[in-house]
Amino acid sequence: EAIAAVSTGHLPDPEHVSRLLREAYEEYRHLDEGIVADYIPALAKVDPALFGMCVVGVSGRVHEAGDADHEFSIQSVSKPFVFALVCQALGAEPVREKIGVNATGLPFNSVMAIELNFDRTMNPMVNGGAIATTSLAPGTTAEEKWRFIREGLSRFAGRPLELDLEVYESEAATNLRNRGIAKLLEGYGQMYFDALAATDIYTKQCSLNVSAKDLAVMGATLADGGVNPITGERVIDTLNCRHVLAALATAGLYERSGDWLYEIGLPGKSGVSGGIVTVAPGKGALGTFAPPLDAAGNSIRGQRATKYLSEGLGLNLF
Ligand code: DON
Repeated sequence: EAIAAVSTGHLPDPEHVSRLLREAYEEYRHLDEGIVADYIPALAKVDPALFGMCVVGVSGRVHEAGDADHEFSIQSVSKPFVFALVCQALGAEPVREKIGVNATGLPFNSVMAIELNFDRTMNPMVNGGAIATTSLAPGTTAEEKWRFIREGLSRFAGRPLELDLEVYESEAATNLRNRGIAKLLEGYGQMYFDALAATDIYTKQCSLNVSAKDLAVMGATLADGGVNPITGERVIDTLNCRHVLAALATAGLYERSGDWLYEIGLPGKSGVSGGIVTVAPGKGALGTFAPPLDAAGNSIRGQRATKYLSEGLGLNLF
């Protein structure tokens, strides 16, 4: 019933998926463009040559290439999944009213975006909207909110996700801009828990370790109408999947979201550690990991490989 409610169709046969995944990996593994994020000191130390890809179908079939099991901090790829969990807990409409679902057209950490739209954070994918979404997590203490988020993200991944303490401490020591954004939103009445405590929980959620395979499983749960295709557990309702995917299509790649939708034609989400998750509704999802980024903070090899697969596997929604 969940599948029937999302877009129909299926992935090509498994041999075809595996072959194209290997082709995309070989095509882009030596592409040497972009720079690794360094504004979070611990991220600057990563090997830029790492490259992992994974496709997970709603059938639960897994296809991997390269460093698909290498773990890295999830960073902004956590945002849609926390938004999903908060919509599920509070109801989507109150969350939409508070956060908003429109594009800012500006970088993910833009203060200008907040000043231009002070009645809303604009969307749950930019930092301000994401911290406000995290502040809405159920619980009266920071510990309860953190547990809700960690356990929920783990259900999406189908395994317990662990905090990367080094990344967390490194970001917590340097995230003055995010603290400033949260305080600014608090001043506008757009923060729903102590601003600094909410920023700290958000920083923890960004520091959870995942692999490209985990991202593919998490995305495939959204593709599968909210049921994790590996564990069989329902994580969120089908309707909330639709809300999350719409928000991703609008703002998943920040100010590059229009270009992304134009080229790839699927909802996706990037993070500064080099991960991208891309969802083909009703079919499955692709997780990629390659640390070097473009100027908007999106993995270059990840974007190229995703375009290759979107075209080769016939995934473009349009
Ligand atoms: O808040 C930050 O700056 C990071 N924890 C996450 C930013 C991020 O991943 C943006 N994505 N491309």
